[in-house]
Amino acid sequence: MKGIVLAGGTGTRLHPITRVVSKQLLPVYDKPMIYYPISVLMLAGVRDILIITTPQDRGQFVGLLGDGAQWGISLSYAVQPSPDGLAQAFLIGAEHIAGDSAALVLGDNIFFSHGLGGQLAAATTAIETDGGCTLFGYRVSDPERYGVAVLGHDGTLLDIEEKPAQPPSNIAITGLYFYDDQVTGFAESLQPSPRGELEITDLNRCYLKNGQARLVDLGRGAAWLDTGTQDSLLDAGQFVQVLQRRQGITIACLEEIAMLHDFITPERALELGEAMGKSGYGEYVRQAAAEYLAGNGRSA
Ligand code: TTP
Repeated sequence: MKGIVLAGGTGTRLHPITRVVSKQLLPVYDKPMIYYPISVLMLAGVRDILIITTPQDRGQFVGLLGDGAQWGISLSYAVQPSPDGLAQAFLIGAEHIAGDSAALVLGDNIFFSHGLGGQLAAATTAIETDGGCTLFGYRVSDPERYGVAVLGHDGTLLDIEEKPAQPPSNIAITGLYFYDDQVTGFAESLQPSPRGELEITDLNRCYLKNGQARLVDLGRGAAWLDTGTQDSLLDAGQFVQVLQRRQGITIACLEEIAMLHDFITPERALELGEAMGKSGYGEYVRQAAAEYLAGNGRSA
C-alpha cells in the first residue's frame, strides 16, 4: 500500500501565523505537526509515502524530512498549486500510487490510541484481501462541523453527510482514508463540487454506491485531534505534553516507530538520537534505542 500525506492548504484560520509558514510545519508540543500523520502511515506499515505541499512550502518539507531513508522509508514530494480539494491528492499522486492501494492522511490530523497500530494493520490487511475502502469514525460532540456517518442498525456505513445541520449520528469521518486500487479511477471520474473542490466525500460515495465502504470506529479511548484553529492547535500541544510527561513516552517519535517496526536497527536509532543534540525529543530517541539494545522491552 502506498501512502499520501496531504499537507497543502492555506491555513487561513491560523493567519497571521501561517502567512509564511505551512500549518503542517508548526510545532505540536515538541515536534512538527507533520510527524503525527507520517507516524500513522508508518504504524500502518506503509513505507512509500508521497508528501503533497503547496509549491512555496515544498523546500522546507524536503529540508525537514529528506528522502526518509533515515527512518527506513521512502518519502517523495509533489505540489498542489491551489487547495482544490482532498480527493485531488489521488490525481496528483496517480503516478506514485501506480495502480496499488493507497492510504491518505491529512497533514493536520493527529491520532492517538492504545492499539492504534493493530487497528491500522488490520485495516491494511482488509484492503489487501477484500478491497474496497476503509474510513475511520470518531465520536464527537459537534458533528455538524464534519462529514458524518449515516449508520445502519448493525453499524454498517450507509452514507456520509457533509456538515449536516441535523447530524444523523455523532460519528465524524476522520482524515485518514484507506482505498483499494480503484481509487485513482474513481478520483478521475469526480467533478468539482459547487465550492469548486474535488470532495473526498464524493470519492467515498463511489465506494458506498458499490457497497464497498467500511467504517472502523476508533473507539472511546482514542484521541483524534485536528489543529486547524488557534485553540485546537494549543489543545493538541497540551494533550501531547500531558500524555508524554505523565507516561514518559513520546507520541509520533518516528525514529522509535521505525526501530520497533524493524525499518531501521536500534544502533541506527541511537545514532539519529545522538545527532539531535540537547532536545528532549533527541534524548527520548537515545533512551528508547538504548533500552531496546539492552533488551528491556518496548513494543510496537
Ligand atoms: P483545511 O483545514 O480544510 O484547510 P486549510 O489547511 O487550508 O486551513 P483553513 O481552513 O484555515 O484555510 O484542510 C485540512 C487539511 O488538508 C490540511 O492539512 C490542509 C490539507 N488540504 C490540502 O492539502 N489541500 C486541499 O485542497 C485541502 C482542501 C486541504
